[in-house]
Amino acid sequence: PALAIDANGSRDIAHVLTANNKNYLILYGSQTGTAEDYARKFGKELTARFHLNVMCADLENFDFDSLNSLPEGVIATFVISTYGEGDFPDGAVNFEQYLNEVEDSPDALDNLRFSIFGLGNTTYEFYNGAAKKALEKLTAAGAQLIGEMGVGDDGAGTTDEDYMAWKDETMGHIAKVLDLHEQEQEYTPSFTYTKLESLTDSVSLGEPAKQYLPPRDLPTNATTGKQRGPFDLALPYVAPITASRELFQSADRNCIHTEFDISGSEITYETGDHLAIWPSNATEKVQQFLSVFQLDGDEIFDLTPLDATIKPPFLCPTTIAAAVTHYIEITGPISRQSLGLLATYAPAEIKDRVTALSKDKDLFSSEILAKKFNLADALLYLNDNKPWEGVPWTLLIELLPKLLPRYYSISSSALAEPTVIHATSIVENTPNEATGHNTVGVTTNLLRELQLAKSGDSAAQAQMPVHYALDGPRGLYHGGKLPVHVRHSTFRLPSNLAVPVIMIGPGTGVAPFRGFVRERAKMAELDPELLPKMGKMFLFYGSRDESDYLYRDEWVQHATTLGDKFEIDVALSRAQAKKVYVQHRLAQRKEEVAQLLNSGAHVYVCGDAKRMARDVQRALADILAAVKDISPDEGQEIIKAMKVAGRYQEDIW
Ligand code: 2AM
Repeated sequence: PALAIDANGSRDIAHVLTANNKNYLILYGSQTGTAEDYARKFGKELTARFHLNVMCADLENFDFDSLNSLPEGVIATFVISTYGEGDFPDGAVNFEQYLNEVEDSPDALDNLRFSIFGLGNTTYEFYNGAAKKALEKLTAAGAQLIGEMGVGDDGAGTTDEDYMAWKDETMGHIAKVLDLHEQEQEYTPSFTYTKLESLTDSVSLGEPAKQYLPPRDLPTNATTGKQRGPFDLALPYVAPITASRELFQSADRNCIHTEFDISGSEITYETGDHLAIWPSNATEKVQQFLSVFQLDGDEIFDLTPLDATIKPPFLCPTTIAAAVTHYIEITGPISRQSLGLLATYAPAEIKDRVTALSKDKDLFSSEILAKKFNLADALLYLNDNKPWEGVPWTLLIELLPKLLPRYYSISSSALAEPTVIHATSIVENTPNEATGHNTVGVTTNLLRELQLAKSGDSAAQAQMPVHYALDGPRGLYHGGKLPVHVRHSTFRLPSNLAVPVIMIGPGTGVAPFRGFVRERAKMAELDPELLPKMGKMFLFYGSRDESDYLYRDEWVQHATTLGDKFEIDVALSRAQAKKVYVQHRLAQRKEEVAQLLNSGAHVYVCGDAKRMARDVQRALADILAAVKDISPDEGQEIIKAMKVAGRYQEDIW
């Protein structure tokens, strides 16, 4: 739902700035919420250091006709993430269209001064493609860039540091251009905080959206009786979990298969899409957080924005415990910038040390980042395990990122199971010597606890490193439900059935390929005449050994249905002395792989982005080089061309 920026719900940017007396503009385009988070941080710092009156808003909520006539002195900062193959986030598509219209008029934006930071991932071909396109088009339309474009690289895990380096530079330029002088840094809340006395029905206890507050008047389709969407980052569907099982036979590793029933909603999906699962924080983590800051979880409060351009980050009124459990990211790594902002409130004895740490990239990296501390861990470590009193709760609300949904490649087929979505999630649970407790994935452990609770395995449940309030707010998730929404992807089987496909997916990277193979098996079952017309599906799968071999029996079954149209080649990396990976198996099958590529096969790679995807690409380039008698570099060029043509697709993380 569009944000009503002022009383008239205006989409005219210049008008909204003037009406709300703003003198700086930040516009973000965010697919998963990260760009929004950085945009807000940037705005908060501009306000704290230069006392600017900043408006920070989603590109989605505006038309841009007045972008060249912003109020006197207003600079615009764009924070834009890249999605898919160098694409703009869904909410920024209107902005892209606008840029396409003005890029050929060199004076269309000749009054606009802007800065820009992009969020991307170097493991993808079109690194920061959206921000780069925006920069090019803005400049072509006559807008003047202040400083240089910044780019954050999630692939190298350096987004935070990339951002810090960019914003230090850029803020210097902005200060110069606008003749601003550094003021006493002060934190000014964007909200009035009101403590409330009693818990009424209108107080949210962590419901994912207003629609779920009692009385539950969920919008339904009058004819079908199904819950109405759209279900997206603003509103998830609370889906019943109809099945859930452990896929590994291992004492210390877990992988959970979960099936979400979407038949009560108007959600549809396509094979290859992603499922967003909305987690809550584990009880132990919430307790730790509350105790570090000496917060009273039962305190009920409301936030009233200071002007019409600001909206509360979560549903209010609510309680502190509900906000910490359901809305705030408390277990992610602490950023250097956050530590810097908290330094003001550090206990006197450690203030100098905290400030020094927040100013020194290398020290911060070795002392804090390397230890995989979350916020509470870091603060306790720095203060000798004693709490930090006196940090304003409103500062935490504004400083900490929102608890965002986690995305999983859907492992079911929209043809075989249109009203059920399967997710395949490896459970993150790694011992951490520095903290003394395990580093745990927030969503994957929740999925596991739900699975154990459903199967009645209370002994295993008791031994989990963390526990969750499985009933959810006001019992909303009772009986095993979780909020979800579908994010559409471009990861699709070729539309032409005859085109062969090569799929490479070790570990949980096999998830979308399970969907692909189920899709083709279902097609063959529905219409046996299609089978001879199908191209071959060749799956390269890898696991450590038999104990973590995912969906073993299902592949056998599919091979029976699909005959020679399906083959799985498995690399069990630890089943012998020397490691064997999917790329080694590709090389061993090089004649067949080359022959499939020659006949126009589409290649799909899913799973680890840090090493596997690169290793696989190199292996395929080498195969091409060998059979075509060209150099490996030329082989790489062919793959790049395949990527541009959509014949080589990656779903990697
Ligand atoms: P390993 O853990 O024995 O090293 C799923 O995680 C499988 O992918 C495991 O068998 C894992 O092997 C393997 N794997 C690890 N690194 C890889 C890489 N760079 N390329 C391909 N497979 C890899």
